[in-house]
Amino acid sequence: MIIIGIHMSEQKKWLVVPGPASKELAASITKDLGAEPIGIDAKIFPDGESYLRIMSDVRNKRVAIVQSTYPPVDRHILQLLLLAHKISEDGGEVYAIVPYLAYARQHRAFLQGEVVSLGVFARLLRSVGVRRMITVDIHNVEGLGLFSVPAYSVSAIPLMAEHFGKNYRLNRAIAVSPDFGGSIRVEAFAKVLNIEHLALQKVRNKTTGEVSFEDIADRVQGRDVILVDDIISSGKTMELATVRLKDYGAKRVFAVCVHPLLAGDALDRMEKAGIEDVVGTNTIPSPVSKVDVAPILVSHLLTL
Ligand code: R5P
Repeated sequence: MIIIGIHMSEQKKWLVVPGPASKELAASITKDLGAEPIGIDAKIFPDGESYLRIMSDVRNKRVAIVQSTYPPVDRHILQLLLLAHKISEDGGEVYAIVPYLAYARQHRAFLQGEVVSLGVFARLLRSVGVRRMITVDIHNVEGLGLFSVPAYSVSAIPLMAEHFGKNYRLNRAIAVSPDFGGSIRVEAFAKVLNIEHLALQKVRNKTTGEVSFEDIADRVQGRDVILVDDIISSGKTMELATVRLKDYGAKRVFAVCVHPLLAGDALDRMEKAGIEDVVGTNTIPSPVSKVDVAPILVSHLLTL
């Protein structure tokens, strides 16, 4: 106990910087962490450039910048880089909390000549003095390997499952991933609720090239289905999966995602497909951001 006491008192205090993209989440993290908030002055000039000023002394402090990189993606990235640069220049130890990590879907070159955008983003973060990067449910954990500073992905999936358990009365529920790549995610979700799970397998017709899903009527007929994905962008993945699940006799379909990007008419599209409700987290502010990720980020920060 005494050793822990000495260790804790030697820890530098946390300061939390609310990036312009994540003011509310930063306030939640600051409160849960018992940290000092830092005021920043942030403006956008008429020509679109960002102006940023840090209003506190950061020298020798551990400074967590909370800045999600949802659209406008490149502006939010640049604001994060500008803040990190200034804080490290002034002697602060910079931790970048990037709840939604943009470009994570481009973590490798899928076609010859493609830019590995996440790799460039990672190098930029390091070049402005970021010491550690923490995100939530990175699209593919392989992406963490592109960072030359320690990089972590914490998972909001258990919190989302708990939210479902508390707020919905479900009938013979089954959790379904709309693609095979989400198998581990859907398994983690189902485990918390103690329900069955499966990942949809795409089947391509070799003659027409048309994509469909394998027949899973025996698994979903008459049941409530919770579709679990990391991102909803256009909503087309959820739409297609819902139409198929209903064809196979699913009763009600719910959609869960960590990062509700909700580009364009995504919400309308999903409503028209017959989705009962959409639940996301506040890594991205949106009308469906019902689950607060502050507790998992704070738990992680307290281990550092
Ligand atoms: C893809 O691999 C991701 O996990 C999501 O399924 C995808 O980003 C969703 O995109 P959209 O909503 O545009 O179909």
